Amino acid sequence: EKGGYDSYMQKEIFEQPQALSNTLLGRLHDDQGNVELDTQLDPNSFDRIHIVACGTAYYAGMVGKYLLEQLARVPVELDVASEYRYRQPVVTDRTLAIAVSQSGETIDTLEGMREAKAGGAQTLGVINAKGSSMTRELDHTLYVHAGPEIGVASTKAYTSMVSAFLLLALWLGQERGTLSKEEVARLVHEARALPRLVAEALSDERVAQVREVAQKYHQARDYLFLGRGVNNPTAYEGALKLKEISYIHAEAYAAGEMKHGPIALIDDHLPVVVVATESRLLEKTISNVQEVRARGGRVILILSDGDTENVQNGEDVIYVPRCDEMISPIVNAIPMQLLAYFTADTLGKDVDKPRNLAKSVTVE
Ligand code: M6R
Repeated sequence: EKGGYDSYMQKEIFEQPQALSNTLLGRLHDDQGNVELDTQLDPNSFDRIHIVACGTAYYAGMVGKYLLEQLARVPVELDVASEYRYRQPVVTDRTLAIAVSQSGETIDTLEGMREAKAGGAQTLGVINAKGSSMTRELDHTLYVHAGPEIGVASTKAYTSMVSAFLLLALWLGQERGTLSKEEVARLVHEARALPRLVAEALSDERVAQVREVAQKYHQARDYLFLGRGVNNPTAYEGALKLKEISYIHAEAYAAGEMKHGPIALIDDHLPVVVVATESRLLEKTISNVQEVRARGGRVILILSDGDTENVQNGEDVIYVPRCDEMISPIVNAIPMQLLAYFTADTLGKDVDKPRNLAKSVTVE
């Protein structure tokens, strides 16, 4: 049932090209240059969005916030569900509340949606599990179609959830007219390449490269992850993955926040993973990298293919396929998953049964 893989997690990592095809392909029309969503949701029926989720789903929602605001220009608030449900959020009948959940059963997320609904919001679920509680209770469901995910550490559900937000943001941009026809067509074309780009990010050679880095630093006590903009959540997701299965303490920060505190942690033992792929903010990220290096930090750079200029800034470099910034969080998630996987594997941990964790959290 693990199809020749050592663990469900490993199997699910390598299933991502297929999972992403299932999420995207029927909905993105390259010939017409548009997006079609199988939903009754009226794209003009709300003027603000609340995103509510836990754990990895929350980080998918964090990418969603960036995409929805940039592409569809709708203001988005993002909350972890255990906070949202008790903070008496200000909701109106012009609010769209979005739950993000692999299982569709996480109790805090479900209760958050009940809270939003009670205030008059419409509700939408970005959900993987078919027929789950949320799909039955929420007004609308956007299935992510990643297929069953068994590994406790979420991998393919994450990249599929982020892709579902890309679809939603493009669709809203198209329907609400915040994106030109040409811009929609261009991004549809870029997004259709995702299964291929992710397959490329999982090529033997690239996987071996990440394994080497994981083995080199597997004895680290702490790790720091940095990213900016749409890849700030990639850093958070990378840190969460590493904590969950390798039990190494890991923290993530927005790269620009470093000098406001966490820079004090840096010494010559600390591996610092920096997402520094092609972006309009790359130069700023690189100047943060130089701050880390100047203090002896051991920088592991995630760079876009062909970036030879910035190699010198990393002790180690992991290359990923070059792509548009708006779709890069999906490609960049791959080395994060592999780094966590190989670190845990090197330490002899059972990645499918991380201590103290359950696949679905149905108690508060
Ligand atoms: O089923 P959900 O997506 O609602 O689950 C949310 C979190 O419990 C989940 O993402 C958790 O953080 C994973 N173990 C992450 O790998």
